Amino acid sequence: MQDIIRRLEEMRAGARAGGGERRVQAQHAKGKLSARERIDILLDEGSFEEWDMFVEHRCQDFGMPEQKVPGDGVVTGHGTVNGRPIFVFSQDFTVFGGSLSEAHAEKICKVMDKALQVGAPVVGLNDSGGARIQEGVASLAGYADVFQRNVMASGVVPQISLIMGPCAGGAVYSPAMTDFIFMVKDSSYMFVTGPDVVKTVTHETVTHEELGGAVTHTTKSGVADLAFENDVEALLEVRRFIDFLPGSNRAPPPVRETTDPADREEPSLDTLVPPDPNKPYDMKELIEKVVDEGDFFEVQPTFAKNIIVGFARMEGRTVGIVANQPMVLAGCLDIASSTKAARFVRFCDCFNIPILTFVDVPGFMPGTAQEHGGIIKHGAKLLFAFAEATVPKVTVITRKAYGGAYDVMSSKHIRGDVNYAWPTAEIAVMGPKGAVEIIFRGDLGDTAKIEARTEEYRQTFANPFVAASRGFIDDVIMPHGTRRRLCRSLALLRDKRLENPWKKHDNLPL
Ligand code: HXC
Repeated sequence: MQDIIRRLEEMRAGARAGGGERRVQAQHAKGKLSARERIDILLDEGSFEEWDMFVEHRCQDFGMPEQKVPGDGVVTGHGTVNGRPIFVFSQDFTVFGGSLSEAHAEKICKVMDKALQVGAPVVGLNDSGGARIQEGVASLAGYADVFQRNVMASGVVPQISLIMGPCAGGAVYSPAMTDFIFMVKDSSYMFVTGPDVVKTVTHETVTHEELGGAVTHTTKSGVADLAFENDVEALLEVRRFIDFLPGSNRAPPPVRETTDPADREEPSLDTLVPPDPNKPYDMKELIEKVVDEGDFFEVQPTFAKNIIVGFARMEGRTVGIVANQPMVLAGCLDIASSTKAARFVRFCDCFNIPILTFVDVPGFMPGTAQEHGGIIKHGAKLLFAFAEATVPKVTVITRKAYGGAYDVMSSKHIRGDVNYAWPTAEIAVMGPKGAVEIIFRGDLGDTAKIEARTEEYRQTFANPFVAASRGFIDDVIMPHGTRRRLCRSLALLRDKRLENPWKKHDNLPL
């Protein structure tokens, strides 16, 4: 018995040592934590239950039978974050560069399968040189097994990827199919082909960081959601993030106690919208003043900044927020913002998270770049996402709601449950100036006449009352009372039931 225990301890120590002290030090020298150090920060202290510590690769070629490290380059298991269960896999770069072998993939698949059964999120800490080169097609098969599970888990349990080192080639497609991607600046990158191949094929010279670093993917490509300064910050923010999410599509969003009164008034909101309709204001101020304790977790804050998306709580319950940002491109909808918000709305709908929409949108962005880039198809994604969503949807129009964009932004017509407008709302086919220039084109030379017509149009349409008189707006509310009205509406809708017709799946314009 003593011998067995000693052997167990030795094997455990072997697994914990990973690729050895020298490689762990090399990892630290790059500013990266080890796979186990990362898990320690991510999970509640002492909560980690490791699985498959004794799994080894089965490769027989290239002298591999002599090079076996228990665990085979990935630490897997489950634990809790603020008391709620999650599953985790953490690739160990010190073991064959964290590369994915058949056995390594089986370990990831095992936690994913169990996560689906018990209904808990999966967090993947990615730090890998890709397919285990010595294993060839067995490794590719392993990737495909993970990909298939990513798809099966999509919409069932939240999947979060942290990219904390290399992630290249086909390996990028597992994180790409998860719900959120967080990256660490300077030490992580994602690309389908690296700088050397790029140089050969397109003759471009580009660094790893420029091609696929955290800043690139959170500002230019929109592939990743958030970029962090280092491993510790990224892991702590994932902990904060998970607190907003339900364990699965079977569970309600978590409820957290709050001391913020539901009927808190915010008088400063009465002057948020400037008297000049062309002057911007910061929509984030409205969000932060309305939600519980001003706690807003913004997703993709540096990409398509003309739309804001993220999570907050109202009366302790998670809500998803979508809001036009008048500070950037006047808050118009373009390709990037439509795609960004559509994906977010669909996440909320998958996981029963009510959606609050704040509208100040002058329309879709004009121009050849947008039209040729497919704004018709991409804008349709957001319309589709809002229209198919069956979760509670509460909308507040603060100022402009023009044209098709009015319909898109969770309007009554696409099953908005409660639609409010501030007195400053302008709900019309377009702005007064543009409208008059079209319908009174013949009078364009007569400035006085045009001004009078513009004023007439403004009086008629640049207000919320025409929409309210038709019931498209349920009430015109005072800005200072927005939180109270939203909390009441969300409480009312808590047990809302609405089902879409049966279908295999829809055909979202991709
Ligand atoms: C086996 C690997 C490996 C791999 C790295 N290592 N990648 N072992 N398979 N894919 C090992 C190295 O031999 C080395 O072992 C250790 O990991 C650390 O690697 P270094 O090169 O010393 O580290 P670094 O300089 O930081 O460079 C990291 C790297 C580089 C950029 C990831 O290792 C690299 O380019 N690796 C190959 C990447 C690759 O081509 N992968 C296959 C891509 S195709 P020792 O013993 O010296 O510590 C792919 C397809 C996926 O992934 C398909 C999905 C459908």
